[in-house]
Amino acid sequence: MDLKSNIPKRLDFPGGFLWGVSTAAHQVEGGNDNSQWSDWERAGHIRSGDYSGNACDWWNNAERDFDIARDMGLNALRFSVEWSRIEPEAGRWDPQAMHRYRELLQGLHQRGIRPIVCLHHFSHPRWFEQQGAFLNPKAPAIFERFTRHVVESLGDLCQQWLTFNEPNVYSAFGYVMGEFPPGRTGEIGNALRVNSTQARAHLLAYHAIHELQPAAQVGWAQHFVVFHPVGVGAHRWVASLLNQVFNEGFLRLIEQGHAGFPFSLFDGAGHDLQGACDFVGLNVYSRFHVAFDLRIPSQLFGHIFVPAHVPQGDSGVEKPYGEAYPLAVRVAVERASRLGKPIYILENGVPDAQDRIRPWLILNVIKELHRLICEGHDIRGYFHWTLTDNFEWTEGWKLRFGLVALDPVTQQRRLRNSAHLYREIASSNGLSPEVAGKYWPVVIP
Ligand code: BGC
Repeated sequence: MDLKSNIPKRLDFPGGFLWGVSTAAHQVEGGNDNSQWSDWERAGHIRSGDYSGNACDWWNNAERDFDIARDMGLNALRFSVEWSRIEPEAGRWDPQAMHRYRELLQGLHQRGIRPIVCLHHFSHPRWFEQQGAFLNPKAPAIFERFTRHVVESLGDLCQQWLTFNEPNVYSAFGYVMGEFPPGRTGEIGNALRVNSTQARAHLLAYHAIHELQPAAQVGWAQHFVVFHPVGVGAHRWVASLLNQVFNEGFLRLIEQGHAGFPFSLFDGAGHDLQGACDFVGLNVYSRFHVAFDLRIPSQLFGHIFVPAHVPQGDSGVEKPYGEAYPLAVRVAVERASRLGKPIYILENGVPDAQDRIRPWLILNVIKELHRLICEGHDIRGYFHWTLTDNFEWTEGWKLRFGLVALDPVTQQRRLRNSAHLYREIASSNGLSPEVAGKYWPVVIP
């Protein structure tokens, strides 16, 4: 496919297609001090030196951003509930937190925006972390109890749930790369154990939600990275190994009920997991280049890098974010289609404060999604990451993923060019040659 060419004719999307944005509690709410992420920030782990602070001030005024979403013609929005607000101490529920989440859901419905709620997006209560988080064999039951409480309280306002956001990122960043709490490195066995415990927790939550709300749609958000080998032989082998461990691990647990040898050595999962989802959510951002390197056993001998000449957004404090690679959605969708369930692209975006390449990325991804739908893939929605610049985990405020630029001090918002482009796409349920021509960059990244 020639990514540089414009589109010859209007690309219409199926009726009812969801055009949304995705967010996560810790990144947007602000003012919470009960999660393991608050501790991680306080311990000085944010490379930029920032704190999430009031974030996007959603706890006080998410409605300001909901108005923007409505004005952009969006019909869906994904957010997560903050477990550490809802259950600040084990077994003690905070009714006020739930009240606020009800307001958020009502606010979305009033604006004609369908919510998707995620139960765990990286952050959880401090007490849960102290109990070993997902290395604790009791974690699935604890998570199920939390899930039941949320669904009993919010189920009348939400039909579509995600149990986990990116179990593979949570475990790799927390136990192999040291980027997320608990900040461990090289613990590949523990990362696999965490994934398998999360899969058990997913299963319990999946059944609990259906018991409480039979018509609910339940899935999870799978981060999918394209690993591109720099050559044949060992390079190809290591890229395939990384793909197996990172992309396939959790996917296979749900698809087949087991992780496959040798990963199954670390998984206590069982066949009852098989098919336990009503849809697959895909979070797709980047391609990484991979070279075999004997010196890094902690990363399974894979040197993962981004060559300087490929399209990229802004760089993180210490390393590049990744290659902006629109065709990654094709690789991810083709893989996920094998599960035979509807697919939602639940995150896709690029850190790009100046909006240099975001319009290019959006145009090419939309073009590719349309092509995939025409080929018969059951894709039901596209959710851009994200609406408003938010707190980017260990990179702090350094990386800006928003369609809308935010000054976190003044809380002032400014629509980037990409927001106007996305509004034209969402409000017309498709992409016309005129709109594509208007936003297609003069210089191709
Ligand atoms: C995560 C988001 C994050 C985004 C950009 C995704 O993997 O779910 O929380 O902000 O990537 O890095």
